[in-house]
Amino acid sequence: MADNRPIGVFDSGIGGLTVLREIWDMVPGEGTVYFGDNGRAPYGTKSKSTIIKYSLQNMRFLEDQDVKMIVIACNTASAHAYKVLSEKADIPVIEVVTPGARAAAKATRNGKIGIIATKGSVNSGVYKDAVERYSAPGTEIYQQACPLFVSLAEEGWWDNDITAAVCREYLTPLKEAGIDTLVLGCTHYPLLSDAIRKFMGSDVVLINAGKAVAEVVRDTLNAGSLASDGIDPVRAFYTSDEPELFEEIASPFLGRGLPAGTKHFNTDRYEV
Ligand code: DGL
Repeated sequence: MADNRPIGVFDSGIGGLTVLREIWDMVPGEGTVYFGDNGRAPYGTKSKSTIIKYSLQNMRFLEDQDVKMIVIACNTASAHAYKVLSEKADIPVIEVVTPGARAAAKATRNGKIGIIATKGSVNSGVYKDAVERYSAPGTEIYQQACPLFVSLAEEGWWDNDITAAVCREYLTPLKEAGIDTLVLGCTHYPLLSDAIRKFMGSDVVLINAGKAVAEVVRDTLNAGSLASDGIDPVRAFYTSDEPELFEEIASPFLGRGLPAGTKHFNTDRYEV
């Protein structure tokens, strides 16, 4: 029997739309409810306990929308809160760190992998551990926090002189280390792919976990007999900031026009 409940997806704001677009492409018949916590973003600079609290509240909201699965489409929230969320949930919870780590381990030829992410993700060590887990012994892993990349992506400065200078500043140590694979460990970073590729060189493989995450979503739907009948899937959007602001900047992240009708919701009303 088909399960027509939607998939719940949340992020600190709009970065998770780069994951949502891949889910739409991979399982186009599935409904989705997206929550962007723009009112409390960024997550990348906040403490682990705060991110766990926010993530639990976001999950409660999505559970109230009767979703059949939760996708944590934020690397920082995945790094800090996945364990707690998956223990508390009665439905499958998917995170974005492991699929990217696995893809990087598979892609490297010279055994030197770079990870760029928010400060929160880098400091958690979760990404590094995940890449190590899937890599051959002796693989060298280099991490770099790139906090300004989030603002550049939201500002629409994806590939200009300022972005090139910021790339040089953040990425020079990774280039000097000779990495051949670079994990874009933050859902905002795929928008800066051109600028990052220009600086790193076209030989360096950039790993955007979105597609790998969508494959996990598809496989989890199939394994759990959770697939829908594909008829008229819902596409709902909520934000904890002003819907107009969300709609203004969302489209490039989603890679297409955003359906109208984003609603406002504050998840901080949930006691967790
Ligand atoms: N979405 C966050 C992530 O993937 C980046 C933006 C933020 O710091 O909130 O880590």
